Amino acid sequence: MPEALTQSSVESIISETKREIRPYVFKRLESRTPRKAGDKIAHTITVTSGKGGVGKTSLVANLAICLAQAGQRVIILDADLGLANVDVVFGIRPKYNLIDVLNGDMDIDDIMVSGPYGIQIIAGGSGVMELADIDNEKAERLFNQLRFLEDKTDYLLIDTGAGINKSVISFCQAADQVIVISTTEPTSLVDAFGIIKVLSNKRHDAYVSVLVNKVDDIEEGQQIYNRLSKVSKEYLNDFDVHYLGCLKQDRNMHIAVRQQTPLMLFSPNSTVAVELRRIVSESFHELPEQFKFGEEDNENEQEHESFFKRLAKIFKGGKED
Ligand SMILES: Nc1ncnc2c1ncn2[C@@H]1O[C@H](COP(=O)(O)OP(=O)(O)OP(=O)(O)O)[C@@H](O)[C@H]1O
Ligand SMILES: [Mg+2]
Repeated sequence: MPEALTQSSVESIISETKREIRPYVFKRLESRTPRKAGDKIAHTITVTSGKGGVGKTSLVANLAICLAQAGQRVIILDADLGLANVDVVFGIRPKYNLIDVLNGDMDIDDIMVSGPYGIQIIAGGSGVMELADIDNEKAERLFNQLRFLEDKTDYLLIDTGAGINKSVISFCQAADQVIVISTTEPTSLVDAFGIIKVLSNKRHDAYVSVLVNKVDDIEEGQQIYNRLSKVSKEYLNDFDVHYLGCLKQDRNMHIAVRQQTPLMLFSPNSTVAVELRRIVSESFHELPEQFKFGEEDNENEQEHESFFKRLAKIFKGGKED
């Protein structure tokens, strides 16, 4: 005859059972991810620059609109801690950010806010810096939530802040594609090269495209790219950088920011808006070859790994370092 169960032994059985089934719950959640053959996985793009004020946030916001207008689902993760953030460009004020998810107070769905064309925006807030220090349990909870976002979107665009720090580099390292923005100013060029250098050391197969912003004419854009490409080949062990294109200096951009309406909506026929649409239709119609997923017989876990799983590993100093 089994002994009568006391309250405390019931509790300990429950907590032990919870501990035991925990891995299976996560397994089940993971298997919910519909990565079937031929399915498109979210394409993650981190936009960075080294130097501040070169147009990262403007690009992310307008790129998001451009992609959404082309029928793509887009989520923006604002990983910038500065003031001129994505939400300001869209004229919306998220009440919550990643910190609230990290603290366990909210789910990721609760903190996302909707922008135009169904674009979803996640404010990183100071949560972005905390990602580097969170304990395993919090990390698991957060990354499990973030991972499912990738099934709900075609593009995940990440806006980073100025500077080259661990958080920015990690977001670059984990992304499918990194857009490095440079202007024609020498300091901006140097900083763009700086971030490419760090990234090439961390991940030599990273897919980096250069966008030259605020140019006077397209030759200028091409020249800046040529220089970056040449020094990357020469000094970074033959590291490849691709050319995304250039955007002209356009005063509508400033007005759009003041109006808190992205240029794509404020002035859809301006030079920059037209050029950005051309870039998107030429360069984003399919993923770069090495990032195509979903081959039927491809069981290679590395290739199928989600962005947030890669990011978690990098933050924890995992093997992708
Ligand atoms: N092509 C352009 N022509 C004219 N102005 C531009 C262009 N692109 C961006 N700007 C302007 O440059 C300023 C900085 O842009 P933005 O905030 O996007 O830069 P950022 O790189 O995100 O800056 P930070 O590093 O501070 O986050 C803004 O006033 C924006 O309107
Ligand atoms: Mg910015």
